[in-house]
Amino acid sequence: MPVVFATPNAIREATRALRRGDIVAFPTETVYGLGANALDARAVAKVFAAKERPRFNPLIVHVLGIAEAESYATPDATARGLAEAFWPGPLSLVLNKRPGCEIADLVTAGLDTIALRAPAHPVARALLAEAQLPIAAPSANRSGRVSPTTAAHVATELDDVPAIILDRGPSPLGLESTVVSLATKAPTLLRLGALPREAIETVLSQKLAQAKPDAPVASPGQLAAHYAPDTKLRLGATSVSPNEALLAFGPRVPKEAIATINLSPSGDLNEAAARLFGALRELDQSGAATIAVMPIPNHGLGEAINDRLQRASCSTPAVGVSAHSE
Ligand code: TXA
Ligand code: MG
Repeated sequence: MPVVFATPNAIREATRALRRGDIVAFPTETVYGLGANALDARAVAKVFAAKERPRFNPLIVHVLGIAEAESYATPDATARGLAEAFWPGPLSLVLNKRPGCEIADLVTAGLDTIALRAPAHPVARALLAEAQLPIAAPSANRSGRVSPTTAAHVATELDDVPAIILDRGPSPLGLESTVVSLATKAPTLLRLGALPREAIETVLSQKLAQAKPDAPVASPGQLAAHYAPDTKLRLGATSVSPNEALLAFGPRVPKEAIATINLSPSGDLNEAAARLFGALRELDQSGAATIAVMPIPNHGLGEAINDRLQRASCSTPAVGVSAHSE
């Protein structure tokens, strides 16, 4: 895949590619996405093929804002309130599909709900504004791999896929969007992500319900084996042995590891979130038998970081789970 810096010209070229039914990788504030025209099932199929993702795993549709979202879904007052508070930004809302919704069924995996997000990243917004299309975009990684936070990650991950990769440096947040369903009886957290749960609960003035793992609305991204480097992870490590790599956090770091990456020497959870996936990829290449991971505080973005680390540490998924991972 050719990497091009996201100049206005490159964005225009990417827009033309989307319009003729090709796929384009582009930066968002969360992670890099692999996008297709959400109205064109054949274009969307190229995304699934590139990711080698099971068809039944639904994609997030990217739009400029609530007005565009209303073409495809029927947001209620709660949805409007959350969109007003957090869009554009790292929140995906699962809403009931509008009757006659023109989004390809392949995008929503045949569900009568649809996940919508208005991204904040200037390149994603320029692409949406120029194309005047809803863009279905999962993270631009192969199924079951960590999400890419740089154009170089995308190029390595999807090296044999013919698509432009728009480059605008590292994704500033580095974690996928938080997914909340409003198509359920109570607002329900389907996936922890870059928008902390507490921020959403403050706007809602209520706690988010937690999706049961076996509920039909459960986000496939919630399944245990979702994020998996090849090297085994050892979580909660307070010491390290010489054949291990170390994913560190905070100022006090054991010295013995083969390779060490500190997510945030100052203990800043936002910085840690932004560096997490890149660091996992790098340590995965270190040749270590295991990646030891120091404890990360479980508040704010720490909750989402620990969720991803937990999933990344599941080396033997239960039967059937790997087929759902993305
Ligand atoms: O930050 C992000 O959300 C990135 C960037 C590119 O926007 N996208 C991303 O997409 O992470 P993806 O496809 O890797 O994850 C989408 C998540 C999955 O967990 C999927 O199951 C869930 O959203 N999802 C999509 N549509 C849904 C629906 N109708 N009901 C329930 N979950 C849905
Ligand atoms: Mg993904």
